Amino acid sequence: MKNIKDLDIKGKRLLVRVDFNVPMDDQGNITDDIRIRGVLPTINHALDEEARVIIMSHMGRPKGEHVPRLSMAPAAKRLSRLIKKDVKLAPDCIGTEVQAMVAEMRPGDVLMLENLRFYKEEQQNDEDFAKKLAELADVYINDAFAVAHRAHASVVGVPKFIKDAAAGFLLQKEMDYFHRSVSDPMRPLLAIIGGAKVSSKLGALRNLLDRVDKMIIGGAMANTFLKSMGYEVGQSKVEDDLLETAAELLEKATRQGVKFYLPVDCVVADKFDPRAETKRTTVQEVPKDWMILDIGPASTVLFGEALEGAKTIIWNGPMGAFEMDAFSRGTMAMVQQVASSHALTIVGGGDTDVAVHRAGESNNISYISTGGGAFLMLMEGKELPGVVALQEKNRG
Ligand code: 3PG
Repeated sequence: MKNIKDLDIKGKRLLVRVDFNVPMDDQGNITDDIRIRGVLPTINHALDEEARVIIMSHMGRPKGEHVPRLSMAPAAKRLSRLIKKDVKLAPDCIGTEVQAMVAEMRPGDVLMLENLRFYKEEQQNDEDFAKKLAELADVYINDAFAVAHRAHASVVGVPKFIKDAAAGFLLQKEMDYFHRSVSDPMRPLLAIIGGAKVSSKLGALRNLLDRVDKMIIGGAMANTFLKSMGYEVGQSKVEDDLLETAAELLEKATRQGVKFYLPVDCVVADKFDPRAETKRTTVQEVPKDWMILDIGPASTVLFGEALEGAKTIIWNGPMGAFEMDAFSRGTMAMVQQVASSHALTIVGGGDTDVAVHRAGESNNISYISTGGGAFLMLMEGKELPGVVALQEKNRG
C-alpha cells in the first residue's frame, strides 16, 4: 500500500477521506476528538506541501437524508482549532457550488465537504457519485481506518476514478500496529475479549484462537461460556442459541493449546441498575434471581497473572457494565494491568478506549485504535475493502 509520502502532492488538489464520525453530546459538542487528532499528521504534511486539502467524511447514519444535526460543521470547527487554520465548510459534498469552492482554493487552503451520507449513493457505492467526488481532486488519500471496512463510494469507489491514490499516515499506522499485534506478533500473544455478545465477536474469537497463545474472556459474553460449562448464571445476559458454539470454541482452544481464561468470581446484582443491590460471589454460586455485571477480584488477580510475560496484548471489549460505577472495577483494574505490562499493547473498539481514557491511562497503552468495526474485521482475519482498493489501485 502506497502512502502519502510516496506521492508528489505539491500544490495539488487532495481529496482526503477521514472518519470524523465522532461522539457528540445532546448540545452538539464533540465529546471525544481522537479521530480528528488522528489525521493531523496527514493534514499537516499536506499543508507543508502546500496542497489544497479537501476533506470528506460521514457522520452518523442519516440514511440518505439531509439531517442538520449530523452536519460536519462541529468537526470542521474542531479541526480548524487543532490546525490553527480556517477550515471552510461546503454546503454539500458534490455539485456546482462545491466545484466552485474547490476552484477558488489556493495552496494551503482547507475545505471540508458536508456529510457524505446525506446521499444514499455513498453507502450504495454508486459509481456516478464516486466519479463526482473524484472529479474534485487530483489525488485521493484514505486516512479513514475506522470506515475502511465499509465498501462505500468514498472508500472504494473514488480510488478507481482518480489518477493517484494512497493511504494517509493514520491508516498506515493502524495497519502497521495490526500487523505487529496479530499477523506477526512477538510471543506470547494474548487476546483479551470482552463486551456483551459472543455473536458479534464470533468471527474474531475463531480467528484469534488460531493465532494467540492465551485468551481471556470477560464481560457478558463470558456468561455464555460459563453456562455452556454447566454453571448457573441466574438472570445474567446469555446467548442460549450459542451455548454449543461456546463449547466448540472451548474445545478448539484446548486442541490448539491456547490457554483460555474465564472469570472465576463476579459481581452480581439484583437488577440492571446503578442503585441495584450487589454482592461478590464465585461463579459456582451465582444466585438464581441475580445477574453477573462485572468480574470479581479473584478474576482480576487471575487475569493479571495470565498477562505476566506476555510480549503482545490485544484487547477489545470491557469486563463488565463499566458505564455504571458499581460494575466498573473489573474493567478499570484490567486497564491498570494492561497499562503497566511490559508488552506491546493494542486496544481497539468502542468501549475499550473509553475505559482506557477514563482511567487516565491512554499514554501507557502502545496503541489505541480509532476503529470499532474495522478493528473487529481485522481480528476476524478479513481484509478491509478500503485497504484492498488502495492496493488494487497501485497494482495498476
Ligand atoms: C464507526 O464509527 O465505526 C465508523 O464511522 C463506521 O460507521 P458505521 O458503522 O455507521 O458504518
